[in-house]
Amino acid sequence: MEICVIGAGYVGLVTAACLSKIGHTVSCVERDRARVKKLANGECPIYEPGLASIIKKSMLNGSLRFTYHMQDGVQNAKAIFVAVGTPSREDGSSDISQVLESAEQAANFANVGAVIITKSTVPVGTNRAVQRVVYSARPDGKLTVASNPEFLREGSAVKDFEEPDRIVIGFKKNSAGETLRKIYKPLTDKGFALVQTSCENAEMIKYASNAFLALKVTFANELSDLCEALGGDMKDVALGLGLDGRIGPKFLKAGPGYGGSCFPKDTRAMAHMGRKFGARQTLVETVIERNEARKLQIARRILAVLGSNAKGKSVCIWGIAFKEGTDDIRDAPAITIIKVLENMGVNVRAHDPEAMGQARHVLPKTQFFSSPEEAAEGTDLIAILTGWESYKRIDFDTVAANMKGDTLMDFRNILPKSSVKAAGLRIISIGSSADNTSHLVKTSGSIDFVQDSKPKGHSRAGC
Ligand code: UDX
Repeated sequence: MEICVIGAGYVGLVTAACLSKIGHTVSCVERDRARVKKLANGECPIYEPGLASIIKKSMLNGSLRFTYHMQDGVQNAKAIFVAVGTPSREDGSSDISQVLESAEQAANFANVGAVIITKSTVPVGTNRAVQRVVYSARPDGKLTVASNPEFLREGSAVKDFEEPDRIVIGFKKNSAGETLRKIYKPLTDKGFALVQTSCENAEMIKYASNAFLALKVTFANELSDLCEALGGDMKDVALGLGLDGRIGPKFLKAGPGYGGSCFPKDTRAMAHMGRKFGARQTLVETVIERNEARKLQIARRILAVLGSNAKGKSVCIWGIAFKEGTDDIRDAPAITIIKVLENMGVNVRAHDPEAMGQARHVLPKTQFFSSPEEAAEGTDLIAILTGWESYKRIDFDTVAANMKGDTLMDFRNILPKSSVKAAGLRIISIGSSADNTSHLVKTSGSIDFVQDSKPKGHSRAGC
């Protein structure tokens, strides 16, 4: 099927590439000419495993092309995906102006019978606004609209597209549903679940999914603190908890708090919808508040181990990205934590395998190093904030020999304690009373907290 995808950001690019891989002919429309040129030259602007090779192969066989002309991209398409950004406003609401503008522009050039499908994450009810915009552009009524939210995780987006837990499609006109069923037939023929529902339900499923996952992570973080206080061990507790089929093992890893472009944005949007429509989402509101508190609590733990005269001391941070497998630092706990430390006069030396290019722009005082070992030289303490697999292979003997202090705080619980201890370092993890510092942290006390400056970078349509 001839398909157009509007937006070559994180979601649009993955969607366009993967649709071309399952047999469709895709034109991807992107307004950023520099990005179109990069893509046309075979460069992939985002770091996502497997994506660059799919784009290259599909461009070679003619199933994928990039353009910045809307008419050029839309004119032959039977289905038009809108995958443009929906940024957060200060009050937490989502700005859907780009979605409406794209839908209107597409409608002007769309074929009779085409479906305009919102892929971006949008507040519940947005598809009605898209319907109005499309109808006013094309009163002949020959165009239909639909909703098809994405569930792509950064670092595994291609896999999440090709092996989805479920495909959700929302529509009113059956012709729209028919088109979407045809688009995803290569996946549903393999047995992947297809949920067919209204546009409102599809939009709601998206927010509910992310909010529930954020709730689950936040629950794990607080349960981790209880384990520390009562002599438990979060790893075993999470294992036992996750084996309950109603709970499941994923998203129970305690850490420094969640980040990224989705959980923070979608929880704020959901809380805003709740307030706006008189159905307060108090649990989601609490998740938002507790997640911010978690980042400050981690900073307090680091300061507690440094001792009362933290000013002038040196801390090494391994991991800046909001999670392993991505270079994305949006709402990353590390950004908040490093700013708090630097506001308390601590010198920060940092390393991240992928995210330092982005981080430099928002952390002007931080020193960055190309290896974790170098970043640790002369420091009083090391803290791991992103669970990069490569940190497990660090030469801890070299680290121990070149550090000033001897403490490593593993806030992702990823390191093999034995090899760290064998190098003569003290390792402090989270979630177990054995070696933690929560008892050191005063529950109150002043701490300078600097609101994150939102880093530029990825434009992500969905979430
Ligand atoms: C999320 C959703 O998973 C995805 O379905 C949606 O389409 C986009 O938003 P993403 O933001 O890429 O994907 O990251 P995800 O893997 O969900 O992790 C979100 C945050 O939770 C990260 O900061 C991660 O470090 C944290 N997390 C996740 C934990 O702290 N513990 C866990 O066990 C899992």
